[in-house]
Amino acid sequence: MSHTIDHKLDASLITKPIMMNIPASKAFTYPILVASDLLAHPEKWLPTDWQKKRLVIITDDNVNKIYGKHLSTILEQAKPLLLSFMPGEKSKNSQIKLNLEQRMIQAHCDRDTLILALGGGVVGDIAGFIAATYMRGISYIQIPTTLLAMVDSSVGGKTGINVPQGKNLIGAFWQPTCVIADMNCLSTLPQVHLINGLIEAIKMFATSDAKLFN
Ligand SMILES: NC(=O)c1ccc[n+]([C@@H]2O[C@H](COP(=O)([O-])OP(=O)(O)OC[C@H]3O[C@@H](n4cnc5c(N)ncnc54)[C@H](O)[C@@H]3O)[C@@H](O)[C@H]2O)c1
Repeated sequence: MSHTIDHKLDASLITKPIMMNIPASKAFTYPILVASDLLAHPEKWLPTDWQKKRLVIITDDNVNKIYGKHLSTILEQAKPLLLSFMPGEKSKNSQIKLNLEQRMIQAHCDRDTLILALGGGVVGDIAGFIAATYMRGISYIQIPTTLLAMVDSSVGGKTGINVPQGKNLIGAFWQPTCVIADMNCLSTLPQVHLINGLIEAIKMFATSDAKLFN
């Protein structure tokens, strides 16, 4: 792990250290579902007790109009909290993150809250980082709606925000409990973002899999 450092303590120290043992965390796997109509049937992939859970849908205003409000209606039994912010890279910042977190606190979201990160890479990165830090870490599901988010950013647990000094400089590795890629979402995606995602996919094959690239 990147944060383990070998401390070679100086022999002149007058006190012996008390050693803190951290148990190794368990390896785990999570499902990635790629299919059509997944958003129309969240009961098929949500935890079985979803009606009793505090659900928070985090999305941006574009995705909210097309999918967020609809998903919120389907999940109305759980009275989900629907949080939306201005679309685009400029929103991936600490002010927006804090604003979303404060709205979650006001709504009494606790450690059992489940975040649904519904949107492209911007939503996934910021909602994932909120999940990593809210009450020291809560669960979240990645629901990528752009091709780039489906093929890249929703998988692997990289979360974060931008600061004036650079992109993605503040963040955490925090894995989702599952990834839901509904192919229907690509039907509304503007062509420029479709091309973006395709280029990302081609780049991945070009750098890691000659057979699939060909
Ligand atoms: N975490 C990672 O591993 C990782 C990897 C690659 C990129 N990223 C990050 O991803 C971000 C870029 O993601 P992106 O390209 O998805 O951009 P984005 O999230 O800004 O989405 C692009 C635009 O498409 C709109 N949109 C999203 N889904 C839509 C849909 N189904 N129909 C219509 N409109 C839709 C959004 O509102 C937005 O305006 C960057 O911040 C980048 O740093 C993260």
